[in-house]
Amino acid sequence: MSKFDLAKAVGFQLNDKEVSWNQRDLLIYAVGIGAKKDEFSIVNELDKSWAPFPTYPVVLMFKGLSQDVVDFRQLMSEGKRTPDLPKFDPNRIVHGYQTIEILKPLPAVSGPGWKLQRRIVGISENKSGIIIEDESVLADGNGIPYAKLYSASFNLGAKVTGSNFTKRVAGPPQAKPVPKDQKPDWVISDQTTPEQAIIYRLSGDYNMLHIDPSIGKAAGFGGVILHGLSSFGFAARAVISAIGGGDPRSLKLFGARFTSPVKPGDALETSVWAVGAGPDGTTEVTFVTKNVTTGKLCLGGGIAYVKKFEKGKL
Ligand SMILES: *[C@@H]1O[C@H](CO)[C@@H](O)[C@H](O)[C@H]1NC(C)=O
Ligand SMILES: *[C@@H]1O[C@H](CO)[C@@H](O)[C@H](O)[C@H]1NC(C)=O
Ligand SMILES: *[C@@H]1O[C@H](CO)[C@@H](O)[C@H](O)[C@H]1NC(C)=O
Repeated sequence: MSKFDLAKAVGFQLNDKEVSWNQRDLLIYAVGIGAKKDEFSIVNELDKSWAPFPTYPVVLMFKGLSQDVVDFRQLMSEGKRTPDLPKFDPNRIVHGYQTIEILKPLPAVSGPGWKLQRRIVGISENKSGIIIEDESVLADGNGIPYAKLYSASFNLGAKVTGSNFTKRVAGPPQAKPVPKDQKPDWVISDQTTPEQAIIYRLSGDYNMLHIDPSIGKAAGFGGVILHGLSSFGFAARAVISAIGGGDPRSLKLFGARFTSPVKPGDALETSVWAVGAGPDGTTEVTFVTKNVTTGKLCLGGGIAYVKKFEKGKL
Protein backbone atom coordinates (compact mmCIF):
# COMPACT_ATOMS: atom_id res chain seq x y z
CA MET A 1 0.00 0.00 0.00
CA SER A 2 1.28 3.44 -0.87
CA LYS A 3 1.24 6.07 1.86
CA PHE A 4 -0.16 8.47 -0.71
CA ASP A 5 -3.87 8.66 -1.43
CA LEU A 6 -4.49 10.34 -4.79
CA ALA A 7 -8.25 10.42 -4.27
CA LYS A 8 -7.83 12.40 -1.05
CA ALA A 9 -5.47 14.88 -2.69
CA VAL A 10 -8.15 16.01 -5.14
CA GLY A 11 -9.83 19.08 -3.67
CA PHE A 12 -6.78 20.01 -1.58
CA GLN A 13 -6.51 23.79 -1.02
CA LEU A 14 -3.03 25.06 -1.86
CA ASN A 15 -1.59 28.23 -0.36
CA ASP A 16 -3.05 31.48 -1.59
CA LYS A 17 -0.43 33.20 -3.73
CA GLU A 18 -0.19 36.96 -3.26
CA VAL A 19 0.21 38.74 -6.58
CA SER A 20 0.56 42.24 -8.01
CA TRP A 21 1.33 43.95 -11.29
CA ASN A 22 1.70 47.38 -12.79
CA GLN A 23 1.36 48.85 -16.29
CA ARG A 24 5.00 48.21 -17.07
CA ASP A 25 4.49 44.50 -16.28
CA LEU A 26 1.64 44.41 -18.79
CA LEU A 27 3.78 46.07 -21.47
CA ILE A 28 6.68 43.65 -20.85
CA TYR A 29 4.27 40.73 -21.13
CA ALA A 30 2.92 42.12 -24.43
CA VAL A 31 6.36 42.03 -26.05
CA GLY A 32 7.02 38.61 -24.51
CA ILE A 33 4.06 37.28 -26.49
CA GLY A 34 5.31 38.92 -29.67
CA ALA A 35 3.39 42.22 -29.85
CA LYS A 36 4.57 44.35 -32.76
CA LYS A 37 5.25 48.09 -32.75
CA ASP A 38 1.90 49.05 -34.25
CA GLU A 39 -0.28 46.96 -31.92
CA PHE A 40 -1.23 50.04 -29.92
CA SER A 41 -4.12 48.34 -28.13
CA ILE A 42 -1.49 46.23 -26.33
CA VAL A 43 1.80 48.15 -26.39
CA ASN A 44 0.89 51.82 -26.06
CA GLU A 45 -0.66 52.55 -22.69
CA LEU A 46 -1.38 56.11 -23.82
CA ASP A 47 -3.58 55.05 -26.73
CA LYS A 48 -7.31 55.06 -26.08
CA SER A 49 -7.65 51.54 -27.49
CA TRP A 50 -5.14 50.20 -24.93
CA ALA A 51 -6.22 47.63 -22.34
CA PRO A 52 -4.42 45.03 -20.23
CA PHE A 53 -3.90 41.89 -22.29
CA PRO A 54 -6.49 39.39 -20.99
CA THR A 55 -4.21 36.35 -20.67
CA TYR A 56 -1.73 38.27 -18.49
CA PRO A 57 -2.76 36.51 -15.23
CA VAL A 58 -1.15 33.25 -16.44
CA VAL A 59 2.24 34.68 -15.41
CA LEU A 60 1.25 35.55 -11.84
CA MET A 61 1.81 32.11 -10.33
CA PHE A 62 5.53 32.61 -10.99
CA LYS A 63 5.75 36.38 -10.62
CA GLY A 64 3.86 36.68 -7.34
CA LEU A 65 4.60 40.11 -5.85
CA SER A 66 8.14 40.32 -7.17
CA GLN A 67 9.39 43.31 -9.10
CA ASP A 68 12.71 41.54 -9.63
CA VAL A 69 14.02 38.23 -10.90
CA VAL A 70 12.41 35.22 -9.22
CA ASP A 71 14.55 32.24 -8.11
CA PHE A 72 12.89 29.47 -10.09
CA ARG A 73 14.32 26.56 -8.10
CA GLN A 74 13.29 28.07 -4.79
CA LEU A 75 9.82 28.75 -6.18
CA MET A 76 9.42 25.08 -7.09
CA SER A 77 10.16 23.95 -3.55
CA GLU A 78 8.02 26.42 -1.58
CA GLY A 79 4.38 26.29 -0.62
CA LYS A 80 2.06 23.91 1.14
CA ARG A 81 2.02 20.34 -0.13
CA THR A 82 -0.59 17.74 0.45
CA PRO A 83 0.66 14.69 2.37
CA ASP A 84 -1.24 12.60 -0.17
CA LEU A 85 1.11 13.40 -3.05
CA PRO A 86 4.78 12.49 -3.39
CA LYS A 87 7.42 15.14 -4.08
CA PHE A 88 7.80 15.42 -7.83
CA ASP A 89 11.05 15.88 -9.73
CA PRO A 90 11.07 19.56 -10.80
CA ASN A 91 13.15 18.68 -13.87
CA ARG A 92 10.52 16.29 -15.16
CA ILE A 93 7.43 18.50 -15.01
CA VAL A 94 5.85 19.60 -18.27
CA HIS A 95 2.93 21.94 -18.73
CA GLY A 96 -0.03 19.97 -20.09
CA TYR A 97 -2.61 22.62 -20.76
CA GLN A 98 -3.63 26.10 -19.69
CA THR A 99 -7.01 27.80 -19.76
CA ILE A 100 -8.07 31.23 -18.56
CA GLU A 101 -11.60 32.51 -18.22
CA ILE A 102 -11.88 36.28 -17.93
CA LEU A 103 -14.64 37.25 -15.49
CA LYS A 104 -13.96 41.00 -15.26
CA PRO A 105 -11.53 43.29 -17.13
CA LEU A 106 -8.21 43.56 -15.29
CA PRO A 107 -7.16 46.94 -13.92
CA ALA A 108 -3.92 48.39 -15.35
CA VAL A 109 -2.37 48.41 -11.87
CA SER A 110 -3.38 45.80 -9.32
CA GLY A 111 -2.77 47.68 -6.10
CA PRO A 112 -2.43 45.61 -2.91
CA GLY A 113 -4.39 42.61 -1.68
CA TRP A 114 -4.70 40.52 -4.86
CA LYS A 115 -4.23 36.79 -4.70
CA LEU A 116 -4.57 33.51 -6.53
CA GLN A 117 -6.76 31.11 -4.56
CA ARG A 118 -5.69 27.63 -5.57
CA ARG A 119 -6.86 24.06 -5.26
CA ILE A 120 -6.17 20.71 -6.87
CA VAL A 121 -9.17 19.74 -9.01
CA GLY A 122 -7.97 16.64 -10.81
CA ILE A 123 -5.38 13.88 -10.69
CA SER A 124 -4.73 11.15 -13.21
CA GLU A 125 -2.06 8.53 -13.24
CA ASN A 126 -1.06 6.34 -16.16
CA LYS A 127 2.01 4.50 -17.29
CA SER A 128 3.81 7.73 -18.29
CA GLY A 129 3.33 9.61 -15.03
CA ILE A 130 0.95 11.66 -12.91
CA ILE A 131 -1.07 14.64 -14.13
CA ILE A 132 -2.16 17.25 -11.62
CA GLU A 133 -4.84 19.73 -12.63
CA ASP A 134 -5.28 22.86 -10.58
CA GLU A 135 -7.68 25.76 -10.45
CA SER A 136 -6.65 29.30 -9.51
CA VAL A 137 -9.08 32.11 -8.94
CA LEU A 138 -7.59 35.59 -9.27
CA ALA A 139 -9.33 37.81 -6.72
CA ASP A 140 -8.82 41.41 -5.60
CA GLY A 141 -8.47 42.61 -1.99
CA ASN A 142 -12.24 42.38 -1.49
CA GLY A 143 -12.36 38.81 -2.73
CA ILE A 144 -13.99 39.75 -6.05
CA PRO A 145 -12.94 37.24 -8.73
CA TYR A 146 -11.49 38.58 -12.01
CA ALA A 147 -10.29 35.40 -13.70
CA LYS A 148 -10.40 31.65 -13.27
CA LEU A 149 -7.43 29.63 -14.47
CA TYR A 150 -7.02 25.92 -14.99
CA SER A 151 -3.70 24.32 -15.65
CA ALA A 152 -2.30 20.80 -15.81
CA SER A 153 1.22 19.69 -15.03
CA PHE A 154 2.45 16.34 -16.17
CA ASN A 155 5.00 14.76 -13.81
CA LEU A 156 6.83 12.39 -16.10
CA GLY A 157 7.87 9.12 -14.54
CA ALA A 158 5.98 9.73 -11.27
CA LYS A 159 4.23 6.72 -9.79
CA VAL A 160 1.85 6.12 -6.86
CA THR A 161 -0.78 3.51 -7.69
CA GLY A 162 1.14 1.93 -10.57
CA SER A 163 -2.09 1.70 -12.52
CA ASN A 164 -4.64 3.91 -14.20
CA PHE A 165 -6.26 6.37 -11.84
CA THR A 166 -8.46 9.35 -12.52
CA LYS A 167 -10.48 11.72 -10.37
CA ARG A 168 -11.67 15.17 -11.34
CA VAL A 169 -14.02 17.56 -9.57
CA ALA A 170 -13.77 20.61 -11.85
CA GLY A 171 -12.10 21.69 -15.07
CA PRO A 172 -12.28 24.00 -18.04
CA PRO A 173 -14.54 23.58 -21.10
CA GLN A 174 -12.98 21.36 -23.77
CA ALA A 175 -12.44 22.46 -27.36
CA LYS A 176 -14.83 21.13 -29.98
CA PRO A 177 -13.00 19.03 -32.58
CA VAL A 178 -11.55 20.72 -35.66
CA PRO A 179 -14.37 20.49 -38.26
CA LYS A 180 -13.59 17.69 -40.72
CA ASP A 181 -12.77 18.64 -44.31
CA GLN A 182 -13.33 22.30 -43.56
CA LYS A 183 -10.77 25.00 -44.19
CA PRO A 184 -10.07 27.26 -41.23
CA ASP A 185 -12.07 30.50 -41.11
CA TRP A 186 -8.93 32.41 -40.16
CA VAL A 187 -5.21 31.67 -40.56
CA ILE A 188 -2.76 33.98 -38.80
CA SER A 189 1.01 33.80 -39.27
CA ASP A 190 3.51 35.31 -36.91
CA GLN A 191 7.20 35.20 -36.20
CA THR A 192 8.90 34.57 -32.88
CA THR A 193 12.37 36.10 -32.66
CA PRO A 194 15.63 34.51 -31.48
CA GLU A 195 15.28 36.79 -28.43
CA GLN A 196 11.69 35.74 -27.64
CA ALA A 197 12.50 33.62 -24.59
CA ILE A 198 14.85 36.19 -23.04
CA ILE A 199 12.02 38.72 -23.25
CA TYR A 200 9.21 36.43 -22.14
CA ARG A 201 11.11 35.35 -19.00
CA LEU A 202 11.00 38.95 -17.72
CA SER A 203 7.33 38.28 -16.92
CA GLY A 204 8.36 35.87 -14.14
CA ASP A 205 9.30 32.41 -15.45
CA TYR A 206 13.09 32.31 -15.01
CA ASN A 207 13.41 28.54 -15.54
CA MET A 208 16.95 28.13 -16.92
CA LEU A 209 15.61 25.81 -19.62
CA HIS A 210 14.63 28.99 -21.47
CA ILE A 211 18.02 30.70 -21.43
CA ASP A 212 20.81 28.12 -21.02
CA PRO A 213 21.15 25.91 -24.12
CA SER A 214 23.04 23.22 -22.17
CA ILE A 215 19.92 22.54 -20.06
CA GLY A 216 17.67 22.15 -23.09
CA LYS A 217 20.27 19.88 -24.68
CA ALA A 218 20.44 17.66 -21.60
CA ALA A 219 16.63 17.47 -21.61
CA GLY A 220 16.66 16.32 -25.23
CA PHE A 221 15.34 19.54 -26.81
CA GLY A 222 18.56 20.34 -28.64
CA GLY A 223 18.85 23.78 -27.05
CA VAL A 224 16.72 26.57 -25.62
CA ILE A 225 12.98 26.25 -26.03
CA LEU A 226 10.42 29.03 -25.83
CA HIS A 227 8.05 29.17 -22.85
CA GLY A 228 4.84 27.35 -23.77
CA LEU A 229 2.91 30.29 -22.36
CA SER A 230 4.64 32.64 -24.80
CA SER A 231 3.33 30.61 -27.76
CA PHE A 232 -0.01 30.56 -25.92
CA GLY A 233 0.08 34.37 -25.89
CA PHE A 234 1.01 34.49 -29.60
CA ALA A 235 -2.11 32.45 -30.31
CA ALA A 236 -4.24 34.71 -28.10
CA ARG A 237 -2.98 37.76 -30.03
CA ALA A 238 -3.84 35.95 -33.26
CA VAL A 239 -7.41 35.22 -32.15
CA ILE A 240 -7.95 38.75 -30.82
CA SER A 241 -6.60 40.40 -33.97
CA ALA A 242 -8.47 38.17 -36.43
CA ILE A 243 -11.83 37.91 -34.70
CA GLY A 244 -11.96 40.55 -32.01
CA GLY A 245 -10.79 43.45 -34.19
CA GLY A 246 -7.61 43.78 -32.09
CA ASP A 247 -9.56 44.72 -28.96
CA PRO A 248 -8.03 42.93 -25.93
CA ARG A 249 -11.43 43.19 -24.21
CA SER A 250 -12.99 40.91 -26.83
CA LEU A 251 -11.52 37.72 -25.31
CA LYS A 252 -13.54 35.94 -22.62
CA LEU A 253 -11.97 32.48 -22.50
CA PHE A 254 -8.79 31.05 -23.94
CA GLY A 255 -7.21 27.63 -23.55
CA ALA A 256 -4.92 25.15 -25.28
CA ARG A 257 -2.84 22.02 -24.80
CA PHE A 258 0.95 22.18 -25.16
CA THR A 259 1.77 19.50 -27.70
CA SER A 260 5.40 20.14 -28.71
CA PRO A 261 8.15 22.67 -28.04
CA VAL A 262 8.79 25.87 -30.02
CA LYS A 263 12.27 27.27 -30.46
CA PRO A 264 12.88 31.01 -30.25
CA GLY A 265 12.92 32.17 -33.88
CA ASP A 266 10.32 29.67 -35.15
CA ALA A 267 7.50 30.98 -37.33
CA LEU A 268 4.04 30.11 -36.01
CA GLU A 269 0.73 29.72 -37.78
CA THR A 270 -2.60 29.67 -35.98
CA SER A 271 -5.64 28.19 -37.74
CA VAL A 272 -9.04 29.04 -36.30
CA TRP A 273 -12.50 27.59 -36.96
CA ALA A 274 -15.76 29.17 -35.77
CA VAL A 275 -17.69 26.30 -34.18
CA GLY A 276 -20.81 27.96 -32.79
CA ALA A 277 -22.10 30.50 -30.30
CA GLY A 278 -20.27 30.85 -27.00
CA PRO A 279 -21.79 32.33 -23.82
CA ASP A 280 -22.82 36.02 -23.55
CA GLY A 281 -22.87 36.88 -27.25
CA THR A 282 -19.40 35.49 -27.95
CA THR A 283 -18.33 33.25 -30.81
CA GLU A 284 -16.77 29.93 -29.87
CA VAL A 285 -13.71 28.95 -31.87
CA THR A 286 -11.45 25.93 -32.05
CA PHE A 287 -7.80 26.54 -32.96
CA VAL A 288 -4.42 24.90 -33.41
CA THR A 289 -0.99 26.51 -33.73
CA LYS A 290 1.85 24.92 -35.67
CA ASN A 291 5.48 25.45 -36.58
CA VAL A 292 5.11 26.79 -40.12
CA THR A 293 8.13 24.97 -41.54
CA THR A 294 7.79 21.56 -39.94
CA GLY A 295 3.98 21.58 -39.80
CA LYS A 296 4.20 20.17 -36.30
CA LEU A 297 1.50 21.28 -33.83
CA CYS A 298 2.77 23.15 -30.79
CA LEU A 299 -0.68 24.05 -29.45
CA GLY A 300 -3.60 21.68 -29.86
CA GLY A 301 -7.18 21.52 -28.64
CA GLY A 302 -7.39 25.31 -28.59
CA ILE A 303 -10.67 26.88 -27.48
CA ALA A 304 -11.67 30.53 -27.21
CA TYR A 305 -14.80 32.57 -26.58
CA VAL A 306 -14.39 35.89 -28.31
CA LYS A 307 -16.68 38.82 -29.09
CA LYS A 308 -16.63 39.18 -32.84
CA PHE A 309 -15.71 42.61 -34.14
CA GLU A 310 -18.45 44.11 -36.29
CA LYS A 311 -17.77 47.11 -38.48
CA GLY A 312 -19.57 50.28 -37.43
CA LYS A 313 -20.54 48.74 -34.08
CA LEU A 314 -17.95 50.27 -31.80
C1 LIG B 1 -0.89 9.42 -20.05
O1 LIG B 1 -1.62 10.63 -20.11
C2 LIG B 1 -1.04 11.63 -20.91
C3 LIG B 1 -1.84 12.90 -20.78
O2 LIG B 1 -3.19 12.71 -21.04
C4 LIG B 1 -0.93 11.16 -22.34
O3 LIG B 1 -0.31 12.16 -23.11
C5 LIG B 1 -0.12 9.89 -22.36
O4 LIG B 1 -0.08 9.40 -23.68
C6 LIG B 1 -0.71 8.84 -21.43
N1 LIG B 1 0.17 7.68 -21.40
C7 LIG B 1 -0.28 6.45 -21.49
C8 LIG B 1 0.76 5.36 -21.44
O5 LIG B 1 -1.48 6.18 -21.62
C1 LIG C 1 -4.37 1.74 -18.52
O1 LIG C 1 -4.99 2.34 -19.65
C2 LIG C 1 -4.32 2.02 -20.87
C3 LIG C 1 -4.94 2.86 -21.97
O2 LIG C 1 -6.33 2.96 -21.82
C4 LIG C 1 -4.43 0.52 -21.11
O3 LIG C 1 -3.79 0.18 -22.30
C5 LIG C 1 -3.75 -0.20 -19.94
O4 LIG C 1 -3.92 -1.60 -20.08
C6 LIG C 1 -4.33 0.24 -18.60
N1 LIG C 1 -3.48 -0.30 -17.56
C7 LIG C 1 -3.97 -0.93 -16.47
C8 LIG C 1 -2.94 -1.40 -15.48
O5 LIG C 1 -5.16 -1.10 -16.28
C1 LIG D 1 10.37 24.56 -36.48
O1 LIG D 1 10.76 24.61 -37.83
C2 LIG D 1 12.08 25.10 -38.06
C3 LIG D 1 12.32 25.20 -39.54
O2 LIG D 1 12.26 23.94 -40.13
C4 LIG D 1 13.10 24.20 -37.37
O3 LIG D 1 14.40 24.70 -37.55
C5 LIG D 1 12.76 24.14 -35.89
O4 LIG D 1 13.65 23.24 -35.24
C6 LIG D 1 11.34 23.70 -35.67
N1 LIG D 1 11.06 23.82 -34.25
C7 LIG D 1 10.87 22.77 -33.46
C8 LIG D 1 10.67 23.06 -32.03
O5 LIG D 1 10.86 21.62 -33.87
